[in-house]
Amino acid sequence: MLERIEAAPKDAILGLTETFKADPRPEKINLSVGVYQDESGRTPLLECVKEAERRLAAAPTTKSYLPISGLGEYCAAVAELAFGAGSQPLTSKRIAWAQTPGGTGALRVAADFLKANLPGAAVWMSDPTWPNHPQIFAAAGVATKTYPYFNAQDNALDLEGMLGAVARMQPGDVILLHGCCHNPTGIDPSPDQWQQIADAVYQRGVLPLLDFAYQGFADGIAEDAAGLQAFVRPGAEMLACSSFSKNFSLYRERVGALFAVAGSPEVAQRVQSQIEKTIRANYSNPPGHGAEIVAMILRNADLRQQWEGEVAAMRSRINGMRSELVKALKDHNVPGDYSFIARQRGMFSFSGLTKAQVERLREELAIYVVGSGRINVAGLTPCNIDRVAAAIGKVVK
Ligand code: LMR
Repeated sequence: MLERIEAAPKDAILGLTETFKADPRPEKINLSVGVYQDESGRTPLLECVKEAERRLAAAPTTKSYLPISGLGEYCAAVAELAFGAGSQPLTSKRIAWAQTPGGTGALRVAADFLKANLPGAAVWMSDPTWPNHPQIFAAAGVATKTYPYFNAQDNALDLEGMLGAVARMQPGDVILLHGCCHNPTGIDPSPDQWQQIADAVYQRGVLPLLDFAYQGFADGIAEDAAGLQAFVRPGAEMLACSSFSKNFSLYRERVGALFAVAGSPEVAQRVQSQIEKTIRANYSNPPGHGAEIVAMILRNADLRQQWEGEVAAMRSRINGMRSELVKALKDHNVPGDYSFIARQRGMFSFSGLTKAQVERLREELAIYVVGSGRINVAGLTPCNIDRVAAAIGKVVK
């Protein structure tokens, strides 16, 4: 029976990393997958994580199952991180939540939850978006549609196109938004624009779903929650998926969370039961280690302070590399104005490179970027930036 199964295409992002690893050229540079690297090209184990692991190892408790919704103190701590300590949905117990295996796990639980409980709803996603978004919702049997997001000519948000699409959505549909550091464009709405988007979404009777994977990588940990918090309104409903892969550098521990804000505590309890039913039929209950680390860091003042400093250092290194790349492209006389790279936010830069140019970069120059032209700026280092700029110049000219 297995004989007739055809091979699936390689994943647009993780598949490239596999190809990169198998590439024998010593000068190869990986700017594809969204993983932070320090200036020596390593993905660091944060000092606060090392210390939390030391403390956990010194006082081991149990490896028995966690509840279906995960570690309670973790869920409470990460809900505060997203919604703000003391925020109204938290104090009024309007939030259903679950610890999930990464942000991707949260999205898949959300997709299964929507399919089972709001079966007619289509999920609208930005054009462009993270290539895994449409796959996750399609795998759960949820219809997907796209809304305009990016104005390529001005390298800016297409707010008008976006609001026009919201006005055409069916009430009861879901709009998927990137909470900050839009992947792949690096272009986020301003706080004012977030308010306009939230007004339009709620007026239309559409349910917002915020994918919040890069908190702390744009302007700051609290500042980056402004988009998500624009949807926190009296009685208003929303879904949100957080990931702690990037801001805690805990990629392989798979640490994420799903939140569903309901209109009342009673509805939140019913939603909680449905989220747990979805999880039980999928992975039963989540793994413990990553969530224990995050909870310990967020709940201990010394570790939390250390973490905030480490996130600030990652953010500032990425922003430094943005300016350096603009400068290096200029130094190499690459035709075109690349100043927009310094205005984009988060790990990614939507470079405008064509598919053919991306292929030349990989095949001739051993530089890997995603097919859409997305560059992981967090993979640039003082040692490789000059070669990257020269290579971009070569394929563009
Ligand atoms: C990315 O976009 O590169 C990251 O979110 C990693 C992933 O899983 O694709």
